[in-house]
Amino acid sequence: IKRITTRDIRARKGAEPLVVLTAYTAPIARLLDPICDILLVGDSLGMVVYGMETTLGVTLDMMINHGAAVVRSSSKACVVVDMPFGSYQESREQAFRNCARVMAETGCAAVKLEGGRELAETIRFLVDRGIPVLAHIGLKPQAVHAAGGFRAQGRLEAEAEAIRDDARAITEAGAFAVVVEGTVEPVSRALSAEISIPTIGIGASPACDGQVLVIDDLVGLFDDFTPKFVKRYADLRPLITEAAQRYAAEVKARSFPGPEHCFGMPKK
Ligand code: KIV
Ligand code: NA
Repeated sequence: IKRITTRDIRARKGAEPLVVLTAYTAPIARLLDPICDILLVGDSLGMVVYGMETTLGVTLDMMINHGAAVVRSSSKACVVVDMPFGSYQESREQAFRNCARVMAETGCAAVKLEGGRELAETIRFLVDRGIPVLAHIGLKPQAVHAAGGFRAQGRLEAEAEAIRDDARAITEAGAFAVVVEGTVEPVSRALSAEISIPTIGIGASPACDGQVLVIDDLVGLFDDFTPKFVKRYADLRPLITEAAQRYAAEVKARSFPGPEHCFGMPKK
C-alpha cells in the first residue's frame, strides 16, 4: 500500500499534527489529496451536498457512492468513510456487515463511527476482524435530537468525566485515532495528553494531535450556519456568482459562444 495507512496515522501521536479535511467529490479529492493526511468522507455531506437539516437522513448508498469517488480521485491520503446513522448502532454484527460493504465497495482504508463507551464492544469486534476504526466523541451530530441541539460538550464536570471515559474506552477497544468534536478546550487538551492514540480536533483544542474541518466551510461555500469553530480561509461564493453573472450577460448579448467555441463557424 503506497497510501498513508491507519498505522502511519496511529504513529503520529505527539508528532507533527495531522491535517484532515472532508472531501465528498472527485474534483475536491484531487485538490486536497496532496495536502491532507486523511480525507474524510463525512456524513456532513447530507447537509453540505444534499441540503438536509441534519445528518440523520444520510444513507449507506450515499456514503458508498461518495466514498468511491474520493478513493478513485486520490492516491496519497488515507481515506476514511463515515458510517451513517442507523447503520452500526443496532449490533456489532450489523456494524460489521455494513462496514464491510463500505470497505469493499469504496476501497477506503477505514470507517468512522460516532460513539464512546456504548460502542467499545462494536469497535473491538470490527478491529479484530480487519476493519480499522476512527472513533468520534464529544459532540455527536447523529445524536443531535437526544442531546437537544448542537451545543458544546464537557462544560459540566459529570459531562467532562463521561467524555474522558469515552476516550479511554474507544482507545482500549482498538480505535486507531479519535475525532473530538465540540468539546471544551481544557477537556480536549487533557484527554489528548492522556490517551495513546491521536486526537483529531474540531471545536476542541490546538493541543489535539490533528485538526479537521469541513472543506465547504473552509472555502465559504456552505453558510447555512457557521459554528464558532469554523475558520473561513477563503470566500468562493462571490467568485462563482460573478462568473455565472458574466456568463448570463454574454449569453443574452450573444457574445458567448465566440467563434473559438464553435465548430465550423464561417469567418466574416
Ligand atoms: O461528517 C463530518 O464531516 C465529520 C467531521 C466534521 C469530523 O464527522
Ligand atoms: Na460525521
